[in-house]
Amino acid sequence: QKPFDYLIVGSGLYGAVFAHEAQKHQKKCLVIDKRDHLGGNVYCEAVEGINVHKYGAHIFHTNDKAIWDYVNRFVTFNRYTNSPLANYKGDLYNLPFNMNTFYKLWGVTSPQEAQEIIASQTKKYQVKTPKNLEEQALSLVGEDIYYKLIKGYTEKQWGRKAVDLPAFIIKRLPLRFTFDNNYFNDTYQGIPIGGYNKLIEGLLKDVVCKTGVDYFLDKTHWDQMADTIVFTGKIDEFYGYCHGKLEYRSLRFEHETLDQPNYQGNAVVNYTDAETPYTRVLEHKHFEFGKQNKTVITREYPLEAAAGNEPYYPINNAKNSDLYKKYKAMAANDEVIFGGRLAEYKYYDMHQVIAAALSKTKSLFGS
Ligand code: FDA
Repeated sequence: QKPFDYLIVGSGLYGAVFAHEAQKHQKKCLVIDKRDHLGGNVYCEAVEGINVHKYGAHIFHTNDKAIWDYVNRFVTFNRYTNSPLANYKGDLYNLPFNMNTFYKLWGVTSPQEAQEIIASQTKKYQVKTPKNLEEQALSLVGEDIYYKLIKGYTEKQWGRKAVDLPAFIIKRLPLRFTFDNNYFNDTYQGIPIGGYNKLIEGLLKDVVCKTGVDYFLDKTHWDQMADTIVFTGKIDEFYGYCHGKLEYRSLRFEHETLDQPNYQGNAVVNYTDAETPYTRVLEHKHFEFGKQNKTVITREYPLEAAAGNEPYYPINNAKNSDLYKKYKAMAANDEVIFGGRLAEYKYYDMHQVIAAALSKTKSLFGS
């Protein structure tokens, strides 16, 4: 008889929701995480009373009322609305592209004027099949928006010239002809009051958790702890990279505490020129309307996917998709449950990863 029903490798949202639901159904769970804290990428570190999003800005948004109600059972969410700014060579523009952006770019005050300018700028780029990202973007939004607000940012993000990037990376570039800076279209949006750790603590209350332990360093020991393994780490690592490594884009975060109450007046400012080496500056207190005397900012630098770098964004090209299929086929014949962004090699937003974990637990334990 093993001491636990489930060993859950990884305490991110997938692992935490799985553990919570399993425990609710009288299953004994053990959660382990190789990091020295729980919560995976939504973890916040308290600095000067400010919840610092240690692994990048996390803004919760969903259209699914059931998911919104679910997370609000553990912590109340505030009414934060994501309305990022773009800084291009010192000038500020509203994002997503909307009438405020067009007014700043061209001085236009009516949707019709803005539409006419965009039509005139995209006309000559209406080629049948855009050969690369640059051609694709120019055909969708025209020169001004592309050169000021897209090109530099995208090239920094991918570490490659836009003419060398495939067109499919940008499928659509939404243009809004209203004065609306709300980035997301979802009905529900916000940040947990007191930070994401409150959500994770609520989910993992009463669950046995161990941090600072890497499953692979003592796999035999951990496998003996439970009847079933739920694995939320990297699927290629689970199988010893036997088919090769799945690739990820990574980021480097540079956190700084400043002795001033307000640095940029907004939680997120994107730097869209080519010269500034970082892509974004976050000012964390604004996620929770903080009034502290100091402030904490984070500069976000894109990083090549390389050994040792945190895997953040799956690179969904043909090579990686084929590779993932091979691992997925192996997983299909395994007793192990694979879930979450690393095990499914999939970009999941928070509400989506919660929905995936709830759907899995429902199939196992009923609602
Ligand atoms: P997650 O990565 O959180 O958890 C996996 C855990 O497994 C980690 O804690 C890891 O340490 C652990 N682990 C891995 N291998 C292990 C091993 N061998 N042994 C022990 N432990 C191991 N979403 C959204 O809705 N709004 C947003 O604004 C953002 N913003 C955002 C910014 C950035 C930069 C990124 C990368 C992602 C976002 N997201 C987001 C997505 C969000 O982060 C994501 O949906 C969830 O964190 C996914 O939760 P998981 O549990 O799948 O993985």
